[in-house]
Amino acid sequence: MTKKRVFSGIQPTGNTHIGNYLGAIRNWVARQDEKENFFCVVDLHSLTVPQDPEELRYATRAMAAVLLAAGIDPDKSTLFVQSHVTAHAEGCWLLNCVTPLGWLQRMTQYKDKAAKQESVLTGLLDYPVLMAGDILFYDADEVPVGEDQKQHVELTRDIAQRFNSLYGQEFFVVPQPIIPEVGARVMGLDNPTAKMSKSSTDKRGHAIRILDEPKEIMRSFKRAVTDSGNEIVFSADPAKAGVNNLLGIYKAVTGKSESEVEADFADARGYGDLKKGVAEVVIEMLTPIRERYEYLMQDPAELDRLLAVGAEQATAVSQPKVNAMKEIMGLVLPK
Ligand code: AMP
Ligand code: TRP
Repeated sequence: MTKKRVFSGIQPTGNTHIGNYLGAIRNWVARQDEKENFFCVVDLHSLTVPQDPEELRYATRAMAAVLLAAGIDPDKSTLFVQSHVTAHAEGCWLLNCVTPLGWLQRMTQYKDKAAKQESVLTGLLDYPVLMAGDILFYDADEVPVGEDQKQHVELTRDIAQRFNSLYGQEFFVVPQPIIPEVGARVMGLDNPTAKMSKSSTDKRGHAIRILDEPKEIMRSFKRAVTDSGNEIVFSADPAKAGVNNLLGIYKAVTGKSESEVEADFADARGYGDLKKGVAEVVIEMLTPIRERYEYLMQDPAELDRLLAVGAEQATAVSQPKVNAMKEIMGLVLPK
């Protein structure tokens, strides 16, 4: 049986946090053997909001190093940088010409981000089309992402089906979103009703970054917002969202069931013990990743070499697909 093909991407901006790790990266790593994988550092997506060029350059290599440190194995998976493979930007234009504007204006991530900015770039609206191309140019069957990206994968399905019906052939594979059951939505420690997000990692006490030192992790958890009660149980009550989020993180990290998690805290003397317990398992999970990251970042030439190999493998798959698309759409290929 041929292996299912997987594509996923992550933006190089900001600091990768445990939401990214538990909701996405960890699942990519876990399924490497079962699947044929393409993992992409989506630097072009980062340009949809203003970036400092020097920081973006650094963050792109750092993101690749984080993925390798987290266990992405270049012998099993293709790891590459989106802008190294020109098929993505080229094919995005072709997809733009089959995607109705109204589909993009309805995207909730676009509406949220646009509402926070004075001047919205065209690229921000077009972001989901670039993402659709990432997936479709590789004929990916599965797209493992966090809950927040589900709508974009559904749009990708719509674009694929529209192209297939416009041109009367099953040209694109219609992909499935794969959303993990646990860890799909890690909330901010400072505000447990809003998703932990990269754009807020600079706020003290909001996120746990993958590369945070143990002392910092402990400090952030100690500061986490809870409530005035003392009951340590899973709960859908919005007033208990802080405790629920801490328990959810503990559950995702340890892989225990909800009743096992609650049993672990049955003797806790209050939320202080809960915070310490969660911090300890997170520190244990992140320490080896941080150490491998530091090692990899000492050798940028080796990192660049690995990314060049990845780009070559990715180009070999996506460029022929984009060329075939051009032909279907009536463009003359150069001889
Ligand atoms: P981004 O930070 O937007 O580049 O997201 C990279 C990956 O992490 C995507 O698959 C997201 O769905 C996932 N992700 C981002 N934030 C969270 C969060 N707070 N909880 C769970 N998954 C997340
Ligand atoms: N938009 C995704 C995010 O912010 C990143 C992404 C870009 C992606 N292209 C992708 C994810 C293709 C999955 C597949 O999380």
